[in-house]
Formats: sequence, C-alpha cells, structure tokens
Amino acid sequence: MGHPVLRAPASPVPDPTAPEIQTLVRDMVETMDDADGAGLAAPQVHVPLRLVIFHVPADREESDEGSDAGDEDSSVPLTILMNPVIEPLTEEQDMGWEGCLSVPGLVGAVPRFTKIRYRGVTLGGAPIDRIAEGFHARVVQHECDHLDGILYPQRMTDLSLLMFREEMKHGAPGAVEDEDVDDMEAEAS
Ligand code: NI
Repeated sequence: MGHPVLRAPASPVPDPTAPEIQTLVRDMVETMDDADGAGLAAPQVHVPLRLVIFHVPADREESDEGSDAGDEDSSVPLTILMNPVIEPLTEEQDMGWEGCLSVPGLVGAVPRFTKIRYRGVTLGGAPIDRIAEGFHARVVQHECDHLDGILYPQRMTDLSLLMFREEMKHGAPGAVEDEDVDDMEAEAS
C-alpha cells in the first residue's frame, strides 16, 4: 500500500497475444498460487497494465444471498482477463470481509455490487463476456479496482471495520472470524 504503481491507473494491454504477456501471466499465476489466493492484478507485481487473473474454487461459492438458481457448481476456472470493463447489474451491495496481498495484516468489511457483468479479452485475444454474482462478483471488483489505483480500504464506508487480522483471534462477541474473510490474494498467515 502506497507504492506508486498501486496508486496510479494502469494502461491497457496493447497486445493480448504478445509473448511477454504470456510470461507475465505465468509469473502471476505462480504468485497467486504461492499465496493461495483467489486473484491477482498486474500492478501488484509492479506491472502497470490492465490485466487481472482470478478463479473461484467450488468450495468458495456458497453465495449468502441465494443468487444461484439451482446450479450446483458455480466455481469459476482460472480466468485471465485483460482490459476489463465492469457494469453493475444491480444497485444492491453486500458487505463482505476482504484481505489483500498489498495490504498485509489487515482485513476490512467492503461493500460490493452483488451482481455485475464484465467484459474483456483473455490471453490470445478471445473475448470474455460474463455475468457474476456473489464471491465471483466480489473478486472481480476487488481485482479490477487495482487497475484504477484503488485498494479496498478506499471502498470502505465504515473504517471502524478495518482491523488487524490478529484481532480476529480474540473472539470478541460479533467479531469476524478468519474463515469469514475473502482473501483476494491471500497472504500466508
Ligand atoms: Ni488486492
């Protein structure tokens, strides 16, 4: 947090088929897997390009809002998304706890749109056009915010809900627990 590349808007990926983009994606996937996270944005590895990666494991998506109309597997495979455009499909927002590799040691409750459409291109230049809800929508909003120089604390509406992860262990009444936190890029704790 505070590094110039995390504060500035990133530039469009000029050529989604370029070999150096493939190399970047490979490095990012490795970093995301090492951190056991759900996503990563290029500025987090100090590359100022509009590129994010993410996936939603099957056990992750138990969307609290009953968004699913009976589809049993709402997991999302590893997605490489370049030059994304997000469009909220509802005004409804949900609060959810997020952690971020670029904001180590902290967690915060962040409002996010519960349903979005996102578009962009994947590695090789094929178009992506998807509708996302629940955790899937949350991770895409979190990661794409990195492309505009926005970290999750800037999205918070109640800063009393920004806290040290350590404090979650104290088990105060009503306190958030570790498993409630959506670690977008997770940090080893
Ligand atoms: Ni993040």
